[in-house]
Amino acid sequence: MSKDKVQIFDTTLRDGEQVPGCKLDTTQKLVIAERLELLGVDVIEAGFPISSPGDFKSVAEIAKLIKNVTVCGLTRAVKKDIEVAAEALKYAKRPRIHTGIGTSESHIKFKFNSNKDAIIERAIEAVSYAKTFVEDVEFYAEDAGRTDNEFLARVCEAVIKAGATVLNIPDTTGYCLPEEYGAKIKYLRENVTGIDKAILSCHCHNDLGLATANSIAGVVNGARQIECTINGIGERAGNTALEEVVMILRQHPTLGLDTNINSKLLNDTSRMVSQKMGMIVQPNKAIVGANAFAHSSGIHQDGVIKNRETYEIIDPSDVGVNESSIVLTARSGRAALAYRAKIVGYELTKVQLDVVYQEFLKFADLKKEILDEDIHKIIELSGVEIENIA
Ligand code: KIV
Ligand code: ZN
Repeated sequence: MSKDKVQIFDTTLRDGEQVPGCKLDTTQKLVIAERLELLGVDVIEAGFPISSPGDFKSVAEIAKLIKNVTVCGLTRAVKKDIEVAAEALKYAKRPRIHTGIGTSESHIKFKFNSNKDAIIERAIEAVSYAKTFVEDVEFYAEDAGRTDNEFLARVCEAVIKAGATVLNIPDTTGYCLPEEYGAKIKYLRENVTGIDKAILSCHCHNDLGLATANSIAGVVNGARQIECTINGIGERAGNTALEEVVMILRQHPTLGLDTNINSKLLNDTSRMVSQKMGMIVQPNKAIVGANAFAHSSGIHQDGVIKNRETYEIIDPSDVGVNESSIVLTARSGRAALAYRAKIVGYELTKVQLDVVYQEFLKFADLKKEILDEDIHKIIELSGVEIENIA
C-alpha cells in the first residue's frame, strides 16, 4: 500500500526558539537549518522577521542558504509584518508566508476588542496581501483549539477563497483532547467548501501533555501537515515533538501515513539542538532521551538480552542510537551482570556468577549505577579467581 505523505513543518527556529534563555544567533540558526534540511523536513519556519533585526537577518540568511525545503516566515495579519517577511524571504527558492489572527471568543474580545465579521475581513486582507508577494501562503487561526467549529469553518472558507494554500489549526493553549482535536479537523474537511484546495495543518501545544496525541488525531482525520519542534521545545510546555510524531507514523504502518524524515538522524539532531540551545533533554524523553533504550530492571534486562523486541518497540539504530544499553543497578539480575561482565572480559560460570552476584548486590545498594570499572573491583572482592580475557 502506498502511504499518504504527512508534511513535516519544523518550527524549532521560531516557536521553539521562543523558550526563555534559548535564543540562537544567526550562525547557530544556519547550522540547525542545514541539519533540518538533511533530516528531511518539508518546511522550515525560520523566524518572525518583523520581531527584531536579528530575526530578520536569520530568516534572510536561511532563505539564501536552503535550497530543497520551503522556508517560511511568520507574520501577524498586519501589512507591515507581511512586507517585512516578504523582504526577508525574497531570495528563498520556495518561500512561504505564514500569516494569521486569533479566532477564539477570548482572542476576538480581549486581544482585538473586535467581532467575528471584522476578524474574517482582516484574515482575508492578510492572505490576499501576502499573495501579492508569494504563491505559498499559510493561514493560522490562532487559538483554533478553543474556537467554535462553525466560525472556524467560515474563516477557513474565506481564506481559501483569498488564496491560502495551507490552513493551520493551532491548539495554541494545548487545551484540546485528542478526540476533540481530531473531530475539529474532520468537521473542517466535511464543512468547508474548497477544502481540497488547501492542506490542513496541526499545530499543537503541550500544556496538558497531549500535543503529540492531538497531532496524530489530526492526521488520522485528514490533516496532512504537522508543525513540530526538535525535542518538543517551545512556549510554556512546548510544541509537538518532531521525533515522536515521525516515529509513531513509522511504527504504525496500518495508519497508512509516513513522512520524508531520515529517522537515523533523529538522535544526533536532538543532541545538536539541545547543545546549541543549552536546553537539556529529559532522560526519559520518548525516542531521544538518554534512557529511551536503557534497561535497568532484572526482568526487562533478562528479556532484552534474550531478544531485544521483548521490551523495545523501536530498533535503536532506526533513530541513530548505536544499541540498547543494559544499566547495572540494585534492581538488575544475574543475566545483566553476566552480560556486562562478559563485555569487560569475564566469562563467568554459573557457580562463579552466583558468588560475584552477592558481592555485586552489596555494591549496588551503595551506588546508583554500577559502571564497567566497578565490575573488576566486585570480582576481586568476591574472591572468585578468573582471568580477564579482554
Ligand atoms: O501556537 C500558535 O498559535 C502559533 C501561531 C502563531 C501559529 O504559534
Ligand atoms: Zn505555537
